[in-house]
Amino acid sequence: AMEQEDGIRQELGSLHGIPLFKSFIEGWPQVKAFQARPDDLLISTYPKSGTTWLSEIMDMIYHDGNVEKCRRDAIYNRVPFLEMKVSKDLSGIEQLEKTPSPRLVKTHLPVQLLPTSFWEKDCKIVYMARNPKDVAISYYFFHHMAKIHPDPGTKAEFLENFMAGKVAYGSWYDHVRGWWEEKQKKKILYLFYEDMKKDPRREVQKILQFLGKELAEGTVERILHHTSFQEMKKNPAANYETMLPTLMDHSLSPFLRKGISGDWKNHFTVAQNERFNQHYQEHMAGSDLHFQMEV
Ligand code: PPS
Repeated sequence: AMEQEDGIRQELGSLHGIPLFKSFIEGWPQVKAFQARPDDLLISTYPKSGTTWLSEIMDMIYHDGNVEKCRRDAIYNRVPFLEMKVSKDLSGIEQLEKTPSPRLVKTHLPVQLLPTSFWEKDCKIVYMARNPKDVAISYYFFHHMAKIHPDPGTKAEFLENFMAGKVAYGSWYDHVRGWWEEKQKKKILYLFYEDMKKDPRREVQKILQFLGKELAEGTVERILHHTSFQEMKKNPAANYETMLPTLMDHSLSPFLRKGISGDWKNHFTVAQNERFNQHYQEHMAGSDLHFQMEV
């Protein structure tokens, strides 16, 4: 009976050729017509690329490193998820309408599907990308715990689907390349999860510069501490454990699972890695976008 519930383990629909949850597609007309405000800041990612990490950092920056203020609500309410729609009364659009400015907005939409209002209002956008091997593994475990997704099948099956773009939000390659190309023309700060792992202070400074904001050294220090994997994992306002248990089951795999670069090495077979490398070469050919597969 559980499996029949709204939004649980349904097969994906297609939104302009991009595989997506059917309940999200139902809400699409409202998302497409979304009216951005000039001071909205968009956090854009392919799933499992560090969205929650970047969101917590941005909320901390917006609140001058005030930890208490950043515990006011769960991260999925502090940074509403634009295209999310699970039921009539749980949607990103409804949440955003109730959110006072300046708003932080989360999306996983590929660049060509972003509601045009964000471009018209010239909103700032921070994109974060992560290497596809770690994304694939993180996404595989997420499919188990987040029951809006279809059953992932075996790891081998999931890897094939991921490479073919037959997962929610479609091809990782198209996503990272699409946003990378848009970056040449627009106000987009393009960040990498691996850089954030290597030198979070430098990346936070990049964000501050992009925002035109200055913070005291002690405040930056507090932000870095509060947004570390260990701190976020035990923070109920950041770790998704307050989410409806019908939607996420942390006993199957926690939302903040490992938080490292290179975990794919514990999961890919030698053959899978060779196949993935070849596929990667083919699909990144001609691009000046490069990824570190470990740090
Ligand atoms: S979602 O559902 O798409 O919004 O997920 P997203 O937040 O993008 O990605 C989840 C992965 O990010 C890891 N994570 C972190 N890594 C390092 N430091 C911090 N603070 C942090 N917070 C979240 C999280 O653990 C998921 O990666 P994996 O590899 O599965 O651990």
